[in-house]
Amino acid sequence: MRLLLLLSSENLKLAAAEAASVAGLKNYGLAGRLMTGRFVSGFLAKSWRLALTRRVFRLLFSCRPSGIAQSMKKYPWQRVCGKSFAVRLRNHSARALKYSEKELAGFVWRRLRRPVVNLENPDSLVEIFITRNQAFCCLLLSEVHNDFEARRPALRPGFSPSSMHPVLARVMVNLSGGSKGSVCDPFCGTGGILIEAGLMGFGVVGYDISGRELDKCKANLDHYGVKGYRLFADSAFAVRRKYDYIVSDLPYGRNSQLKGGSYAGFLGLLPGILRKRAVLAFPQNVRLRQLARRAGLKVECEFLHYSHKSLSKRIVVLRRGTGH
Ligand SMILES: C[S@@+](CC[C@H](N)C(=O)[O-])C[C@H]1O[C@@H](n2cnc3c(N)ncnc32)[C@H](O)[C@@H]1O
Repeated sequence: MRLLLLLSSENLKLAAAEAASVAGLKNYGLAGRLMTGRFVSGFLAKSWRLALTRRVFRLLFSCRPSGIAQSMKKYPWQRVCGKSFAVRLRNHSARALKYSEKELAGFVWRRLRRPVVNLENPDSLVEIFITRNQAFCCLLLSEVHNDFEARRPALRPGFSPSSMHPVLARVMVNLSGGSKGSVCDPFCGTGGILIEAGLMGFGVVGYDISGRELDKCKANLDHYGVKGYRLFADSAFAVRRKYDYIVSDLPYGRNSQLKGGSYAGFLGLLPGILRKRAVLAFPQNVRLRQLARRAGLKVECEFLHYSHKSLSKRIVVLRRGTGH
């Protein structure tokens, strides 16, 4: 099915990669915040997992902005509209269009047998996005609602200033491309990543060298109702079992130092404990590609994420093997 996703504007590259990962999509189009592509039908049932997608639409057609009236006149609206409808014009560059929202709604109205407009709560909401070169005519399928703010570090029973915001934690889990199996965070701290993975139904496993952090992690996982988790008060360098996905925000800086080893040492360990994919956050200045190659890992993609003034994170998606 051809879908259009309205992405959050926070970090478009990351937002598109997250959606593509959850959808298992290789090719897609991106026009500002609009992502279009042929999605498999199962994607809709998974779209609630997304952190950086706001709304999901069925893409009815796209055309040049100048051709919108013609295309709307011809479109078989009777087939897609429910009992009532509304049309919304999302005009990114208003100069490109000479029709008002009302005039565009008129084209739908005239093609329906018993047209009913409901601006407050329509059964079918037709949204038209206009970019400089294209008009996208869509039907709203779902809005992605998530209560990430309710899980932000300051509101958790076990607080740590170095814990990741749940939006980024969720994006990292989604970049793994998995929807079931085990997620291990070998530097789990207070559990920011494990909470999100647990709420998505993964079996979660955490290691942390600090018993104090692990107690907070337990309190947090219980607080958010994550079941069946396993936590080990041990060093990441002692992990010996294999996990489907390894998702972790590696220690850095004064508050949270990497103890008992190095980034290179940890990457060297990964091929032995990873079944499918790892998604790791590092400080921006780490020479990640070089370290990964030496460890026998392939960097599938990487992103920069600006957390606050003094700190940017490099988020990398890794697989075993060095090929392209
Ligand atoms: C950046 S914090 C992780 C934050 C975590 N994602 C959260 O939401 O709280 C890094 C954690 O790594 C732990 N750590 C440092 N060295 C470690 C090691 N060798 N093995 C396991 N944990 C380690 C620290 O105790 C700290 O809790």
